[in-house]
Amino acid sequence: MTDIVLLPGDGIGPEITKAVTEILDKAGADLCYHTYEIGEGAYNKTGALIPQETFDAIAKYKVALKGPVTTPIGKGFKSVNVQLRLKYDLYINLRPAYSIKNISKYPNVDIVTVRENTEDLYIGEEHEIENGFEAIKRITVPASDRIIRFAFEYAKNNGRKKVTCIHKANILKKSDGLFLQRFEEIAKEYPGIEPDKKIVDNMCMQLVMYPEKYDVLVAPNLYGDIISDLIAGLVGGLGLVPGANLGKDVAIFEAVHGSAPDIAGQNKANPIALLQAACMMLKHIGKDDVAEKITKAILKTLENREDLTQDLGGKSNTQELTAAIIRNL
Ligand code: NAI
Repeated sequence: MTDIVLLPGDGIGPEITKAVTEILDKAGADLCYHTYEIGEGAYNKTGALIPQETFDAIAKYKVALKGPVTTPIGKGFKSVNVQLRLKYDLYINLRPAYSIKNISKYPNVDIVTVRENTEDLYIGEEHEIENGFEAIKRITVPASDRIIRFAFEYAKNNGRKKVTCIHKANILKKSDGLFLQRFEEIAKEYPGIEPDKKIVDNMCMQLVMYPEKYDVLVAPNLYGDIISDLIAGLVGGLGLVPGANLGKDVAIFEAVHGSAPDIAGQNKANPIALLQAACMMLKHIGKDDVAEKITKAILKTLENREDLTQDLGGKSNTQELTAAIIRNL
């Protein structure tokens, strides 16, 4: 058995986590789950959003599967997700997305977004100024270099041909200018891979018009966050797309989507994005065969709209979709 930390989160988190662990167990993943609460639920019980025992468990077992966590908008506490990423220096946010027949609006998408996960506007430094506030955007050489190098290494090791750098260096000449300059410098170390660069607004249009032209994308934190939701929309929505937060020692796997408070507790949530994240986790811990088996079952299930949840145009609920995936294992 392999030990992993399970963080169900809140909103739809507990429902989809239950579905995913059921499928993992039926697929023979042979995992031992160490379950901990995080976010508001943990705060109400312990006074901490991420209790020390949760930090200790992640540090001990090194691999976690995490459901979404609600972050109050415009007030309240700092994002639990950002806190976890900073605590374990999970500097890579890897988000692969690909088209699925009869599900995706676009047929030829196969894009991996590599998002910088530790700096940019997400450092959360906002200051009061006369008549308003200002927010600090931080871009540094070490953080840019390691994420850009990871993107090229990923491309090299996965037979990818092109890496596109997303920026707004026409306006943010120093910060995004630095990210772009580091990209141009590091690209020289990878002569077999085409370096490409796009201003973020043009990138959005390009992705909607010609997504098939893009391969690996590398972006500072905020653009990576926005662009990966856009790409999720191209391939069928947030219910499908996974992400991995990777550092030197610790890896936390989660869906791209949030806690979906509009459908929480209604048995409507699609567990596939978190299940795909679990498949990334299985590969990370060397259980590639189980990951393959589950991926095949997901693709087979997606062929039958009857079995799908409403976000994918079906009429089934979370439990029915889970049962269909288990049948298809
Ligand atoms: P969201 O991703 O939770 O929801 C956006 C829309 O997609 C909603 O209509 C929702 O019902 C739908 N959706 C999302 N996941 C779905 C699924 N698995 N199945 C079916 N439909 C699904 O984004 P929103 O509403 O902007 O954020 C809600 C909360 O989640 C916020 O507090 C936000 O901070 C948090 N959040 C947390 C993340 C994380 O824990 N990694 C990531 C993104 C947002």
